[in-house]
Amino acid sequence: MENSEIRELQEAILRLKEEKKAIILAHYYQRPEVQDIADFVGDSLELSRMAASAPHPMILFCGVTFMAEIAKTLSPTKTVLTPYPGAGCILADMALPEEIQEARALHPGASVVAYVNTHARVKALADIICTSANAREVMEKTPGEEIIFLPDRNLGAYHARSLKNKKVILWDGYCPVHQSITTESIERVREKHPQALVVVHPECPPEVTERADFVGSTSQLVGFIANSREKSFIVGTEEGTLHQMAKKAPDKELLLPDPVPTCHQMKMITLERVHKALREEVYKVEVEEGIRIQAEKAIRRMLELK
Ligand code: 13P
Ligand code: SF4
Repeated sequence: MENSEIRELQEAILRLKEEKKAIILAHYYQRPEVQDIADFVGDSLELSRMAASAPHPMILFCGVTFMAEIAKTLSPTKTVLTPYPGAGCILADMALPEEIQEARALHPGASVVAYVNTHARVKALADIICTSANAREVMEKTPGEEIIFLPDRNLGAYHARSLKNKKVILWDGYCPVHQSITTESIERVREKHPQALVVVHPECPPEVTERADFVGSTSQLVGFIANSREKSFIVGTEEGTLHQMAKKAPDKELLLPDPVPTCHQMKMITLERVHKALREEVYKVEVEEGIRIQAEKAIRRMLELK
């Protein structure tokens, strides 16, 4: 699409947004042109908080479907729209409700901590939810000595290393995008930029997080780079994050591993689909009420954690 066409579409979306009194929320992994029409761009934790507090009667959620489900779970009376219901998360698909029940039967004393990247029907079976920004705090404050952490084994293992007095039972799930970030894919770039700091998301494999200069959730990575005195960074997470990083730290050199980590599910949300969603008020996100009530309890436990 030509730049002028992009701008026209963006303006049409912004007009419809005003008309419908909608708020547009977007995750950092969205396409840059989609991030630019959002009222708020954030990571999973920030977006959950925003979805819970926004007074707007309509939320258009630009992210994968489990994120839009959270908005609906926390705001059942609002209209929550996803521009494309086919934008799922492969990691979320790695934990099924019946598997949670089996794991609970195997470890009857354990608490279930579910990563935000899960379906509502899985959240409904968890004791508490966490995101990559607060996983350690949630695990630490969860009562009991045993925790079943699902579904991301890398995030679970990363925090389990430093948790004392807790036995963490790891699930065998992973995010293919972050799993594809390897020491080799980073070294390929570092060879040409030996001065660059390596900052990575905790969903990356252990050998990558162990060697990184900084490990953090998406917004923690953005904050670290904006506040750092260093000038050059290799960013081990989904490429979309660089759009906000570049805005917040325009003087920094931002590099991606080779090959570039891209979440194709996140990229299914296009400006055309956002426009259609607002124009036709599709696709409405619904969560079955029994599941919603249970999932809401687990999410609110996280949001209210002291
Ligand atoms: P954040 O919790 O850092 O936003 O990450 C969400 C996600 O999908 C990571 O792949
Ligand atoms: Fe899911 Fe990975 Fe995409 Fe995040 S980057 S939405 S965890 S598939």
